[in-house]
Amino acid sequence: MCGIIGYIGKRKATEVIMNGLKRVEYRGYDSAGISIIENGKLVTIKKSGRLNELNKLIDHNKYSSNIGFGHTRWATHGEPNDINAHPHLDNSGKVSIIHNGIIENYSALKSLLTKQGYHFKTETDTEVLAVYIGSIYEKNKNIAEAVRLALADVTGTFGLLVIAEDEPDKIIGARRGSPLVIGIGKNEFILASDQTAIVDYTKHVIYPDDNEMVILTKDSYVIKNLDNININKEITTIEFELNQLEKGGFPHFMLKEIFEQGKTIENATRGRIILATGDVRLGGLTEVADRLRTAKRIILTACGTSWHSALIGKYMIETLARIPVDVEYASEFRYRDPVIYPEDFVVAISQSGETADTLEAIREAKRKGCTTLGIVNVVGSSIARATDAGVYLHAGPEIGVASTKAFTSQVTVLLLFALYIGRMRSVSQTEGIRIIKEIQEIPKKIEKILQQADKIKEIAKRYSKSRNFLYLGRGYNYPIALEGALKLKEISYVHAEGYPAAEMKHGPLALIDDEMPVVFLATKDEVFDKLRSNLEEVKARGGKIIAIATENNEGNELIKNKVEHMIYIPETLPIVMPILSIIPLQLLAYYIADELGRDIDNPRHLAKSVTVE
Ligand code: G6P
Repeated sequence: MCGIIGYIGKRKATEVIMNGLKRVEYRGYDSAGISIIENGKLVTIKKSGRLNELNKLIDHNKYSSNIGFGHTRWATHGEPNDINAHPHLDNSGKVSIIHNGIIENYSALKSLLTKQGYHFKTETDTEVLAVYIGSIYEKNKNIAEAVRLALADVTGTFGLLVIAEDEPDKIIGARRGSPLVIGIGKNEFILASDQTAIVDYTKHVIYPDDNEMVILTKDSYVIKNLDNININKEITTIEFELNQLEKGGFPHFMLKEIFEQGKTIENATRGRIILATGDVRLGGLTEVADRLRTAKRIILTACGTSWHSALIGKYMIETLARIPVDVEYASEFRYRDPVIYPEDFVVAISQSGETADTLEAIREAKRKGCTTLGIVNVVGSSIARATDAGVYLHAGPEIGVASTKAFTSQVTVLLLFALYIGRMRSVSQTEGIRIIKEIQEIPKKIEKILQQADKIKEIAKRYSKSRNFLYLGRGYNYPIALEGALKLKEISYVHAEGYPAAEMKHGPLALIDDEMPVVFLATKDEVFDKLRSNLEEVKARGGKIIAIATENNEGNELIKNKVEHMIYIPETLPIVMPILSIIPLQLLAYYIADELGRDIDNPRHLAKSVTVE
């Protein structure tokens, strides 16, 4: 949610900033803007719309500044027009700030400042903060101190960068609740909301914690907390490679990420499964292993696609570990004073590790004294750091706003997690070996599904004009129905609903007519025959059925002549199936959106990383 990038050093700031903004654009793309200090003067350029609109306004030959920052916005306060775009200036026009997050007490600050004679040009909370910082700076003439003092009065969240014309060799950063990473180069620093904007220049980074700020000149950095105490922080190394941030010949990141899933599943399982003994090794959980063995309850909390992984995780953990599992939307969990016992485990599932609601849900759980775990993709992210222990996905950067490879990696890691606890409790070695054998087969089976991309594209073309879709599944495929529908909604803007197949007769059946495509997850499992009856019910009402079926299932003969299309996926255990059965649905959504000419990697109104609540 909002991408930010700042630079100080020897390079041309406009180039580093624009390059960085391209990398973080997936965090928000309503408008964009930059501020630089050029020959001692603050220059600010901003524009609504995509980055190229801003780029058109920047004369790169004209500027040689080595300090500045840029912002790409996902609007929270004020419509996404030119004026509300960041950066925002104080009343003197000499202090500029960019901000990711929400200033909750902005109206109180605004009326206070208005009474003191300050004025505002925009509807944003960020401008209020800019003016407030400026009002302190006027008096103390020390920009770092002005930022620190202003932030002490702020409630809400921020990932913030500030520059001031009168201190042209300094850039200030601060965070609370929104991400900020400091890239440490040789006589240069990059500050960004995201490692992806930094890795072009350096792999050495520092992650400031909440309520910390950094003061950078081109050859020095000081990190302190908002109580003005200096802090030493560890420098860590970014793990991924630059080429992971490129499309690699695919037209969209989303398609590239769908096709990467064989590899990303391998990465999620590498070194973690032991075929000979049917065991799972999760180094990040060693310290809590004993407590997990005797756990009485696990609560999985997440948002969006990650919440769908959690639903699957519940089934997996309850099946293998026989521990009751609750699944909670993080946004609900954090506010409803949930009952949590000290011996509970609360597990956050998050691709970005920055989703504000999920992070706060974890903090709430911690306050209530239980153990918290993270199943997270981005190494060093806020959730990874806030939890007591955890497991990384190692899926590499996911750029497409609609999550695909992170989802299948989450489900894979949840399966490992379930088996890890299961083997400490009741799962036999033979059963462990049987599951691990199947896990090892996943990448090969994914490749087989991906080979059918052209067939799925043809089906997508045929239904791309439909305005409503229904997705139905049972058991492990019920959350897959939800996720398949979400994928379609997100990137094609077509209305889609996912439902447990048997529930359909309690309402959604009324929607069926001969225009309605219905995607059935009809894979081989113990509820196949039940699902077959649901399929008959839809057929009887004229629905156009697309079935995802398992190869070599004798039952297929019974549904073949009832459906318009069959997409076959390889056979596996029902507990492994959701990792395979989602893939055709990802492709279906992708090709429908492509057929409709949608902006697939950056769907309207959405952002990759939701760092506001
Ligand atoms: C946003 C993204 C989704 C994602 C959700 C949760 O809505 O567009 O793709 O599933 O946030 O994100 P997280 O990073 O916590 O998994």
